[in-house]
Amino acid sequence: MRDSVFFLGKGGVGKTTLSSALALALARHGKRVLVASLDPAHNLGDSLKVKLNGEPKNVEKNLDALEVNLAWWVDKYLEESREQLKLNYSYNMTLNLDSFFGILKYSPGTEEYAVLWAIEDIHSRLAPSYDFVVFDTPPTALSLRFLSMPAISGLWVAELTKLRERILKDRQTIVRLDPDSPVAKGTVDKSDDKVYGKLGSIRTRLAALEVLFSKHSFMNIVVNPDQLSMYEALRIKDELERLSIPLSALCLNKHGVSEATYELPAELRHLPQFTYSFSRDGIFTRDDLVSIGIEPLMNYVLSERKTTR
Ligand SMILES: Nc1ncnc2c1ncn2[C@@H]1O[C@H](COP(=O)(O)OP(=O)(O)O)[C@@H](O)[C@H]1O
Ligand SMILES: [Mg+2]
Repeated sequence: MRDSVFFLGKGGVGKTTLSSALALALARHGKRVLVASLDPAHNLGDSLKVKLNGEPKNVEKNLDALEVNLAWWVDKYLEESREQLKLNYSYNMTLNLDSFFGILKYSPGTEEYAVLWAIEDIHSRLAPSYDFVVFDTPPTALSLRFLSMPAISGLWVAELTKLRERILKDRQTIVRLDPDSPVAKGTVDKSDDKVYGKLGSIRTRLAALEVLFSKHSFMNIVVNPDQLSMYEALRIKDELERLSIPLSALCLNKHGVSEATYELPAELRHLPQFTYSFSRDGIFTRDDLVSIGIEPLMNYVLSERKTTR
């Protein structure tokens, strides 16, 4: 069942606009919808004309919205990692954890993990109360990093699990040879090894996110009638293919905004295509959003959801 919707594309192509419009249209059609912004530079609230925070806020009948507080998720992720480290390596507390975590906060990977765990939270805690969750995504680079995180981290965790198994096996051998060895004080069995257990639970969480992205999400690419947004769409397509995440639709937004010629890349032409005209009067109200012509995409999302149920 595909019930999460993502809009991906270059900055400014209309991801927030189309996320808001689709969420509003689905809600007005009678579906219960949550629209969630994952963009560190939020403007979903501006688009919907409601002040938002990290928890769902009612926008209108059937529609709630939130803007994920990424700074909060980064701190939570670091705090959990710190606790975990303290728990498992209490003998090694001479290590200066504070300066280590001070650096980790700005390390590559931290922000995408924060996005990932925020999506997991929305998926497990909030999504069951809704028919659809529409995600308004950040610029391509961060989006591709969090989408690839489950697969990449999954490989790491699998390797670490093997390593841990080997350590436990070696410990068992040592204890067998010398039952009085200090090693006997530590765990030798997988079932009571905290590290092994933790690796297993991370693997399960990452696998669930991989399934969410590849099997339960509509992935829409948004482009404008210009070459740069098309190139970016091709990069997104290649990357998602590598991750075995299927693309659902291509949204050509701001059609008619300029006379410049452009060509839809052949690699994107097989996708169901939805076109939205450039609105010269601008988009100001929620009614403006709905009248952008979102119904065909809404009907497609509704019909696809039925067939994959
Ligand atoms: N079809 C459209 N017609 C007119 N203006 C549009 C249209 N789609 C988007 N816009 C405007 O373009 C700007 C960028 O859109 P936005 O949805 O914020 O892009 P993104 O989220 O991809 O960065 C906004 O000012 C928005 O109102
Ligand atoms: Mg946006």
